[in-house]
Amino acid sequence: MTQEDVFKKLVAHCKEYGFVFPSSGIYDGLGAVYDYGQNGVELKNNIKRYWWEAMTMLNDNVVGIDAAIFMHPTTWKASGHVDAFNDPLIDNRDSKKRYRADVLIEDLMAKYEEKIEKEVDKAKKRFGESFDEKLFRETNPRILENAQKRNEIHSRFVKALNDNDLIELKQIIVDYEVVCPISGTKNWTDVRQFNLMFATEIGSTSDGATKIYLRPETAQGIFVNFLNVQKTGRMKIPFGIAQIGKAFRNEIVARQFIFRMREFEQMEMQFFVRPGEEMEWFKFWKNFRLKWHKAFGLGDHKYRFHDHDKLAHYANAATDIEFEMPFGFKEVEGIHSRTDFDLVQHEKYSGKNIKYFDPELNESYTPYVVETSIGVDRTFLSIMAASYEEQQLEGGDSRVVLHLPFELSPVKVAVFPLVKKDGLPQKAEEVVKLLKFDFKVVYDEKDSVGKRYRRQDAIGTPFCVTIDHQTLEDDTVTIRHRDTMQQERLKIGDLYAIVNEAVSMKNLLGKIVI
Ligand code: GAP
Repeated sequence: MTQEDVFKKLVAHCKEYGFVFPSSGIYDGLGAVYDYGQNGVELKNNIKRYWWEAMTMLNDNVVGIDAAIFMHPTTWKASGHVDAFNDPLIDNRDSKKRYRADVLIEDLMAKYEEKIEKEVDKAKKRFGESFDEKLFRETNPRILENAQKRNEIHSRFVKALNDNDLIELKQIIVDYEVVCPISGTKNWTDVRQFNLMFATEIGSTSDGATKIYLRPETAQGIFVNFLNVQKTGRMKIPFGIAQIGKAFRNEIVARQFIFRMREFEQMEMQFFVRPGEEMEWFKFWKNFRLKWHKAFGLGDHKYRFHDHDKLAHYANAATDIEFEMPFGFKEVEGIHSRTDFDLVQHEKYSGKNIKYFDPELNESYTPYVVETSIGVDRTFLSIMAASYEEQQLEGGDSRVVLHLPFELSPVKVAVFPLVKKDGLPQKAEEVVKLLKFDFKVVYDEKDSVGKRYRRQDAIGTPFCVTIDHQTLEDDTVTIRHRDTMQQERLKIGDLYAIVNEAVSMKNLLGKIVI
């Protein structure tokens, strides 16, 4: 099965099992907008809880806020979003499809990288143990040719982005004969800039309504509250402000399911530091954030840092944490050293003093900021993609299982009476009551136990507990483990401790702070 097939199956699975639905599906959906279903919302809430606790509980100098989505329109002038929050777009005249020129070029570079990896894989199989990968990469003519092409494109691309040169972006697409995946032609328009913010109006038109924007990032809500939090919380630099909330971008190319959405959720933290200390903190947060991701146990090799080719004019360092999605390594989180740009801009546009008085240095200054910015939806997708497995079982049977980290599973325990009679449902309800105040528990008495196991495997439930006739005699139950499918018999009184130990958020948090 190709990665593309796996991805299609994952999208279908998300819909079938109540994780993610297309928004307003009865009206055929709305492009790049999605709703989370009964299982999706639980998984999403668990991801957010893990992030919130990691940021605000493990770091005693980080506090949270929840700012409004609507902000004074000058916010976006000051932040630069009105003038410069643009994507370069290009249309194919035959298919009438619109693309991001930078994404077309990134995909083109990825194709050369794929060709290189295919050569290496083939050679690995051919030469076996004696294979010297480093030497092969340095000497194989096909690899060298593809690497040279990729590097040529890369350096032209970086220069074009840095120079804001839209003509050169188009020229790369023309020179490398990029074709539209729909029409198969190279009939491209020129590249143009397109602002990604959604605008709306506040106030009634008779009063003279004001144009405002749906926030394209949560970060500005933090910047404008910097002094409120610093003063009321008596915070001393260095300190951070964390926030989880919706953001909106009118993405030109809506692709790859919940990877690129028009309405999505961010978990952002701005860490305010003394000027000159930002690189040290940039390093600290890179390390902390990577550990946060790796704690899921999805495979360390699936993560990598990718330094930005083009630094925003206000940034002095920026890197992405990328995850290996079914469609390649893609950005899940950005870590940016944003200098004092945002606070200085807000000071300038508001006319208010936003400086910090540092009692240790006995001087006032505008703090520098290191930002960590992660998408909830992309994290959700990365976890689902890495957890999904179609397993062939002994005896010709098969199952779909989600190997979700237990701490994130939507349902922690499913309780089944073996049959719907003989007092077993009542006993099962007692077990549910014992657990439901601490864990998300479901009760299921329909169909065979085998079918009930499959339903829980498909949503990643770590434990299924079955109540049978023996339970009535000695208060024991069978507990069945999701990944191994092994069953053991234990006392009802031991259930709580076993589940609690396996699903506690402490397990993930403990892996970050060793
Ligand atoms: N405040 C900085 C900022 O917003 P960004 O790199 O534009 O930086 C941060 O976005 C994160 O937000 C990304 O790494 C990604 O996970 C998520 N994100 C951005 N645009 C998105 C979209 N259209 N759909 C889903 N997630 C998105």
